[in-house]
Amino acid sequence: MSKIGRILAVETSCDETAVAVVDNGRRIVTNVVASQVVLHSATGGIVPEVAARAHLRWMIPVLEEARSQAGIDDWSELEAVAVTEGPGLAGSLLVGITMAKTLAWVHGLPLVPVNHLEGHIYAAWLLDPDEPDRPAPEFPLVALVVSGGHTFLVEMVDQLTYRLLGQTVDDAAGEAFDKVGRLLGLPYPGGPAIMKAAAGAEQRDRVFPRAWLGDSFDFSFSGLKTAARREVARELGADVDTMSSDAQPLPEAAVAELAHGFQESVVEVLSTKTLRAAEEVGAQTIIVGGGVAANSVLRGRIEQAAAERDIRVIVPRPGLCTDNAAMIGAAGYFRARAGARAAADLAARPSLKLALPAA
Ligand code: KG4
Ligand code: ZN
Repeated sequence: MSKIGRILAVETSCDETAVAVVDNGRRIVTNVVASQVVLHSATGGIVPEVAARAHLRWMIPVLEEARSQAGIDDWSELEAVAVTEGPGLAGSLLVGITMAKTLAWVHGLPLVPVNHLEGHIYAAWLLDPDEPDRPAPEFPLVALVVSGGHTFLVEMVDQLTYRLLGQTVDDAAGEAFDKVGRLLGLPYPGGPAIMKAAAGAEQRDRVFPRAWLGDSFDFSFSGLKTAARREVARELGADVDTMSSDAQPLPEAAVAELAHGFQESVVEVLSTKTLRAAEEVGAQTIIVGGGVAANSVLRGRIEQAAAERDIRVIVPRPGLCTDNAAMIGAAGYFRARAGARAAADLAARPSLKLALPAA
């Protein structure tokens, strides 16, 4: 007998090999993630072929770990298999899709395709195995997704329904963290490293520019990279035009101050626009998702501003903000209920979008 509401989810879109089992779109039964961070730190970033090979290496052990933790002996206990179809790296997506397709076929289960970005939003629905129950996010809501590859704001008036409010016109917020982290000589990925360095800043007077882009809800972060280069060159007395983008030999105090100034700029723009969007659409809830939502300064700033306006904020715990399969299991449940089904020819969609700008 299939256990209604139990979804097994597979996520391999970027550099984490992940399998989870989630009940009713909310309760995590198990959530296994094999991270490639150590592997990619050697190159200071993700090499797509290396990532795909690592997924091949870890896919079966991660699946087996999740299966055994969830105590799945009889696969008919599952309602469906959900898998990330995109966006992401083609070779990486292919490993998870092939795995999920095979599982669905062998066990006679429906295969449900999930958009990775929708997963980052539905992470807000998740409950850890021992976590007390809490109400699901209420609509209308505004979701800010800030990851290594994406930065956008959407309004949701109902499940699975998105209206794009704004998006980055150049770099994603996480990408800016990673590039500036690299310039400052911090370890990969730059986000957590910058957050840690910034917390140790004694002087907090380095001001980086803010790209407000008028009244729009769009973002721009590429100017921050240039600003950081300029600041570093000034610190070293070097020529900004010939200076490399790799680790620069800066004193620790300067790294901390620059990390702080940079982070302040990103956090102020993200939090200000998110709050303004929430007020404009009369949101009950603000959701923040994606790897950069693991940033405690960003979380704190949005929580404080929303509390003043009586808006509920849901930011998943850091491990559910970065890539994982539980979020795909949550989104996959709602997709499955809405009738989404993939055929055996499901293909990777590296450039899949969540919502398009209004015409
Ligand atoms: O969502 P994610 O795990 O993968 C993508 O789908 O891109 O996001 C990864 C990004 C990286 O750019 C990383 O630097 C950033 O999230 N990140 C952070 C923090 N933790 C991860 N950025 C700022 N502060 C953090 N604590
Ligand atoms: Zn992601």
